Amino acid sequence: MSGGGDRVLRARNLTKRYRQGEVWIDALKGFTYDFPPGVTAVVGPSGSGKTTLLNLLAGFDRPTAGEVFLAGHPLHALGEDERAGVRLTSAGFVFQSWNLLPTLSALENVAFPLLLKGIPRRERNERARALLAEVGLEHRSTHYPNQLSGGEQQRVAIARALALDPLVLFADEPTGNLDSAAGERVLELLLAQARGNRRVVLVTHDLEIAARAHRVLRLKDGRLVEIQGDDPT
Ligand SMILES: Nc1ncnc2c1ncn2[C@@H]1O[C@H](COP(=O)(O)OP(=O)(O)OP(=O)(O)O)[C@@H](O)[C@H]1O
Ligand SMILES: [Mg+2]
Repeated sequence: MSGGGDRVLRARNLTKRYRQGEVWIDALKGFTYDFPPGVTAVVGPSGSGKTTLLNLLAGFDRPTAGEVFLAGHPLHALGEDERAGVRLTSAGFVFQSWNLLPTLSALENVAFPLLLKGIPRRERNERARALLAEVGLEHRSTHYPNQLSGGEQQRVAIARALALDPLVLFADEPTGNLDSAAGERVLELLLAQARGNRRVVLVTHDLEIAARAHRVLRLKDGRLVEIQGDDPT
């Protein structure tokens, strides 16, 4: 399997240092990895740098040093607005909570990225309906987030994350707030999105979940200390 000479998702010596008052925290130290297509789980103890890594890979934050490419774009060299543009068109996100906009219905939430992209209303709604159907929630399209169960909210979040057919799907503890049945359904939906050239990056504490990824990266104290699975690099 190619590791992605296409730079779909690639990090070189990625480093993040936070300053907390007088103290410096090395949250990520020289992370180098070329994410292949498929599902890559990221595991490690609390505070090991998993969310820091995800924020850098997705361009929410800029590295202190190192390079990161998303969909061929050098995020480390781009300003905030440019990174936001790359994110919109190339990445989708599912987090542990606070995924949905509370004042929008399920359908409007899913259609939101399409609105940002300037896609006409009729096409937006059609696309959003199809995506809701794909996650089994066509019958909940007019519900607001507070009228949905946690598992349903996560499925809406997955539908929204897929709205612009992203090359990379990022998930940070997406099943963390769910019971095992709802979590399983969300997990299966996420795993099923690793199609074609798409990368899914799944941060999880749960080693049983991680074992279902194509490969597992283990972080410890901000370092990548182990790679298990079909690592092509
Ligand atoms: N904005 C910030 N400012 C200062 N320090 C931070 C910041 N964000 C994270 N840290 C620190 O960086 C380290 C890594 O944090 P990170 O959130 O990446 O860990 P994590 O592996 O995601 O943990 P968890 O499993 O608990 O979510 C921690 O020591 C944390 O306290
Ligand atoms: Mg975290």
